[in-house]
Amino acid sequence: MQPQQNHRWLRWPSDPSRSRLAFGADYNPEQWPRHIWDADVRAMQVAGVNIVSLGIFSWARIQPQVDVWDFGWLDEIMDLLHAHGIAVDLATATASPPPWLTTMHPEILPVDGDGRTIWPGARQHWRPTSPIFRLHALRLTRALAERYRDHPALTAWHVNNELGGDNAYDYSDDAATAFRDWLRRRYGTLDALNRAWATTFWSQQYSDWAQILPPRRATTHLNPTQQLDFKRFSSDALKDHLRAERSVLYEVTPDIAVTTNFMVMGWSKALNYADWAAEVDFVANDHYTTPGPQAHDELSFSANLTSNLAGGRPWYLMEHSTSALNWQPINVAKGPGEMARDSLTHVAHGADAVCFFQWRQSAAGAEKYHSAMLPHAGVDSTIFRAVTDLGATLRDLAEVAGTTRRPSGAAIVFDWESWWTAEHDAHPSDRLRYRQEALDWYTAFLELGIRADVVPVDAPLHRYGLLVAPILHVVPGALADRLRGYVADGGHLVTTYFSGIVDEHDHVWLDGYPGALRDLLGIRIEEFAPLSDEQSVELDNGTVGTLWTDRVDVKDPATEVLARYRQGGQTGRPAITRRAVGSGSAAYVSTRLGPAGLTVVLADLAQRAGIDSELPPDLRGRVELAVRGPYWFLINRTGQPLDISNVDGERLGSGTAVLAPRGVAVLRRATVPGTAHE
Ligand code: GAL
Repeated sequence: MQPQQNHRWLRWPSDPSRSRLAFGADYNPEQWPRHIWDADVRAMQVAGVNIVSLGIFSWARIQPQVDVWDFGWLDEIMDLLHAHGIAVDLATATASPPPWLTTMHPEILPVDGDGRTIWPGARQHWRPTSPIFRLHALRLTRALAERYRDHPALTAWHVNNELGGDNAYDYSDDAATAFRDWLRRRYGTLDALNRAWATTFWSQQYSDWAQILPPRRATTHLNPTQQLDFKRFSSDALKDHLRAERSVLYEVTPDIAVTTNFMVMGWSKALNYADWAAEVDFVANDHYTTPGPQAHDELSFSANLTSNLAGGRPWYLMEHSTSALNWQPINVAKGPGEMARDSLTHVAHGADAVCFFQWRQSAAGAEKYHSAMLPHAGVDSTIFRAVTDLGATLRDLAEVAGTTRRPSGAAIVFDWESWWTAEHDAHPSDRLRYRQEALDWYTAFLELGIRADVVPVDAPLHRYGLLVAPILHVVPGALADRLRGYVADGGHLVTTYFSGIVDEHDHVWLDGYPGALRDLLGIRIEEFAPLSDEQSVELDNGTVGTLWTDRVDVKDPATEVLARYRQGGQTGRPAITRRAVGSGSAAYVSTRLGPAGLTVVLADLAQRAGIDSELPPDLRGRVELAVRGPYWFLINRTGQPLDISNVDGERLGSGTAVLAPRGVAVLRRATVPGTAHE
């Protein structure tokens, strides 16, 4: 993606030694007595830590009262870290307002959809739209920027923390006011809003802006466009907070890069990061794995998408875990090799920093059972030894730093608005999961050993020979035109059920589904036919569909039926179609096939699109390949050792021709034109 507005893109942390991978963690020294700090920095040096994120939750310690400031401890730890060669990504410390502020101004607290106050006691209890919160947050930001503007340890600014992690949706009166302002800017007139929201339905016409509310809890299904706009607004409101802190930082420290940690992971969907990426000097992401058979595929998917949000440029892995989490129902510890594999998979997809939450595992507080680089057991522990080994591995890979990720020939399109909208209530099925469908296609690519990028929908699509757009539900006219142009120019588009159904206002494209893509696909659907949990359907290519089917009619003779549903032993309606358009094509998959079924279908579609694996046949599916500049990363997806002697290249670090179970090998290959260091 070409970031649009940001003239500063891409500034990197002011690291004196650019040619290294950063390694570190969130560091919370305020949780510990002073003598521990000395032990910390010594152990950091042992582990090879060269950066920490400091001060993320330190507001109450830095500013214990409205007009009382205490920087002494922070000065001391900044100096200590610098003396040990450790750079600081300094937080603006605004993530968790202190008790004096919420007592003085309870009106900064968020309100849920039922009108209930979200009380302090945890963190992130603030309204993104509260002018009072903004005032205090910017005062703190300025105080920190002025204090540390010339500190040699300061390498980057970390705005707030995981904006929207715990406070993405606020339904307060402040939110209502800001929502109305946002709607005025979007629509200009109430007439336009009434049309977009289809307010003639259920007597919802507005005659005054003041009548409009956030989608608070109502008797039954809320207006869907109101819901969609509130999601857009909520993402924008937090982005506005990022911008506000950023402008103070740019004013006081114009040479220091600014970022905030995104949450491109699992089912975290509130913020449209495709729209945020250009707001930061370098993209930073936090990632925690979702347990299950696709856990590592999901990690790779998220890292891949993060890289493409960053336009293929290097980015920062700001947080992940050395082992178990504490916020899932069951927090499974990582097995041998898993931490390094997870970290290096992020590096494979462009991360130039490998950081964790957190440096030293807390002895008290809500996260005391969350793993860390230095666990409760201390330095004499498997985790700390694995951390130290990882530090050494990252030093061996130093030459990779700064290389850009090499795009592949195929891509999966990712669209936050389709994610939000396709999963709204009052739909044909509430079982549909947008990101799961996208992930299933990604797993199918991995199974076939084909590299595929995961790209935001506004990325340049023409560079890809094969483009999979799963559940691309929201297709405004301009996007339909882009996709038609892509296919007309020889691209091979694949899309699925519930795609092309609505425009940007969530209004259905009429005259048969999938309205916006109907002619391109050469099909017409009169009715969706979702399946109950007990139902599944067989296809005549041997695959099995669940969740959804469509009653597809083929309308264009150029549309070939690749698979049909079997109905009572008979071959029935089309299930998978493909319309040839010049040298391009547009294919449609009308049911959920899951990773196994999609692997079968994708093998065929990829072959027809002329896309093949770059891996030797015996490694396909067993190894994930990611490419940065001249470096091939081979990631063992299996629990078995694999012979990689038939892959060309010189292995970095100590390594043989055997790829250990869950191991990652980095091979330097002949330089590929245009992909060398930035
Ligand atoms: C992140 C957060 C960290 C820590 C971590 C635990 O969401 O930024 O502060 O809570 O999760 O996994």
